[in-house]
Amino acid sequence: MTYNDAVKRVNELRILLQRASSAYYDKYDPIMSDREFDRLLEELASLEDEFELHDVQSPTQIVGGRAGTVSNFLDEVPIEDFNTPEKDALGTPSNSMNPSLFDNVSLTATSTISVHPTPMLSLANTYNAGELRDFDRRCRDILGHSNYTWFVELKFDGMALRLRYESGKLVLAATRGDGRKGDIITKNVLTVSDIPTEIRDNSGKPLEIRGEAYMETEAFDAYNQARINQGLQPFANPRNATAGSLKMLDHNEVAKRPIRFFAYDLILNEADESLSSKIVTHDAKMHYLESIGQRVCETRWHVKSIDDVLTIISDLEISRKKLPFETDGVVVKINEDLYRTELGSTAKAPRWAIAYKFEAEQAETFINDISLQVGRLGTITPVAELEPVLLAGTTVRRASLHNEDEILRKDIRVGDRVIIEKAGEIIPQVVRVIDTKMPKRSVPFRMPEECPACGSKLERVEDEAAWKCNNVTCPPQVRIRIEHFASRDALDIDGLGSSIVDQLVTAGLIHSYADLYRLTIEDLIPLERMAEKSARNLIQSINSSKKQPFERLLYGLGIRHVGVTVAKDIVAAFGSLLRLREATTEEIESVHGIGIKIAESIRHFFSNPEMNTIVDQLVDYGLKCEYESIVHGNATLNGLTFVLTGTLPTLSRSAATELIESHGGKTSVSVSKNTSFVLAGDAAGSKLDKAKKLGIPVLNEQEFLIMIH
Ligand code: IVH
Repeated sequence: MTYNDAVKRVNELRILLQRASSAYYDKYDPIMSDREFDRLLEELASLEDEFELHDVQSPTQIVGGRAGTVSNFLDEVPIEDFNTPEKDALGTPSNSMNPSLFDNVSLTATSTISVHPTPMLSLANTYNAGELRDFDRRCRDILGHSNYTWFVELKFDGMALRLRYESGKLVLAATRGDGRKGDIITKNVLTVSDIPTEIRDNSGKPLEIRGEAYMETEAFDAYNQARINQGLQPFANPRNATAGSLKMLDHNEVAKRPIRFFAYDLILNEADESLSSKIVTHDAKMHYLESIGQRVCETRWHVKSIDDVLTIISDLEISRKKLPFETDGVVVKINEDLYRTELGSTAKAPRWAIAYKFEAEQAETFINDISLQVGRLGTITPVAELEPVLLAGTTVRRASLHNEDEILRKDIRVGDRVIIEKAGEIIPQVVRVIDTKMPKRSVPFRMPEECPACGSKLERVEDEAAWKCNNVTCPPQVRIRIEHFASRDALDIDGLGSSIVDQLVTAGLIHSYADLYRLTIEDLIPLERMAEKSARNLIQSINSSKKQPFERLLYGLGIRHVGVTVAKDIVAAFGSLLRLREATTEEIESVHGIGIKIAESIRHFFSNPEMNTIVDQLVDYGLKCEYESIVHGNATLNGLTFVLTGTLPTLSRSAATELIESHGGKTSVSVSKNTSFVLAGDAAGSKLDKAKKLGIPVLNEQEFLIMIH
């Protein structure tokens, strides 16, 4: 290879590995198997060595994810949306805590990022006995003896957490992030029952604990099924579900998710000398962790030689299938701290520990076709239609191909013989084509220019490999959107399952969720398995869904990033659909807990004329488009309509709206002869002039407060 070729390949590999790393750590949606990632990383490392092309920014030098990363799930809110002032939703240290407790935390008023006092490193991977023996040999060569012993633990496939305890109390929990700094997620972690909020430690010195949050397989399956039933996108695997959950805004929602935790390390750098001088082996750390109330995994071994380690591994290849959680390998660690210190670490991983990855289960099959799937938000995903094949106990018929770039990179074509793999993913991956040199292969894959379902022109999403269909009436999108609209947390339309939605859309009876309210019993009766009684019941539940509160309707509209909690906050702040539709991005973003991504997504939704027509129809059918707070206090404002203008001295707009509505009054955005009062603050503009012209009484905040009290 010439130097120029090496430079070219190194650049190529760096881009590819960065993309794969971001897909894995930031988007929780891997585009290649761990094994393939490691192979490419190895190729990069050897080219960097051979041609002296080292770079501190290279993927060979950097540990995984970033802090402040985006969660890309439909109903979950990106963490970066909350890194703005006054928002401490993710456990930003509050003033009530002693700031000295956070000496190691980059403390600004707005920080949700924590700098780890000891970096959270990654682990190098090995895949066979030879590589593991090489690792043992390297340790022996550096130390000059083999007096060390081995500790073998399961490698839990979840999300690494750092826990900080001070005076026995959990004061901070953070993600690994880029290894140097991660996101603070204390409030969320406090909801995980395996993690004690207090430990039996009265040394008075800080203790740092590391471990893995994960989901058990059965609980994960049940949880995913519940998501599917609610019309939400299921998670690809327990690891993604755990990471996605722990980065959510609403810790009440996190509490509902079946997250578990195992502690696997104790950092004693800041601990009391009497403690750190006693605990000098990994074995002792594990016992100490147990004694202070941490949950550690029982399945662990302390052995003398690498042969013993290999025996454990070969037994585990079979017995791991009976474990209640997923594990993709073991972690092999030197037990004695003394030797660990001597071996030290590279920028990425310790030299005293390594991961051994179990062989992913693979199978050979053919690509019968490449089909395209259209998601609720219009993203087009290519899918491999496979010749059915048995893999890890199930018959596999389809595999995700992620996007056009991935297909071209692997040069996957219809008719190819391929290797597929299930490596911790529920959806199998196509690893590679067995022979790309075969004569008479079919033509390379090309993304069509038009949507396969509706024929509209596809558009490439800026900065992404994804293509989207932006037609709001595209049938598969309509189907998923209607199912979401009818789901339990949205309009909760009993009896409107996916098969009925499918038939209604296919028969052309409905084109949007608004069309549901036009359906008659006669429309339904001809459908499969639909008797008159069930048709009547369904119409009845469609009609009664009109009474659902506005926040459910807003959630049901299916606006990207608007989950249940965000919908509630928006409705409380804007009071009515009318006002929300008129609001600018800045106004939406000014609502507590709402970031720019959500605000832009709402604006984008309401700036689509077709979507607005559908929303207008919902209004006409009588769905609730106004916030109805429960009238507490007295109903002094019954029958009165208020218009707010200008800035009030103490009440925010949403607080004033809430007060008006909770006392039986209504608010409106424009002044007319039907307006009872104008509530005006500083810098009131044309609305005040109009009120004066029409002779409508104007109140200031104080007068208004007297009125309601
Ligand atoms: S020890 C210096 N033990 O694997 C890193 N890690 O690939 C020492 N992991 O970020 C980590 N199970 O999240 C260790 N029993 C175990 C583990 C484990 C899972 C994860 C951990 C780490 C990743 C590295």
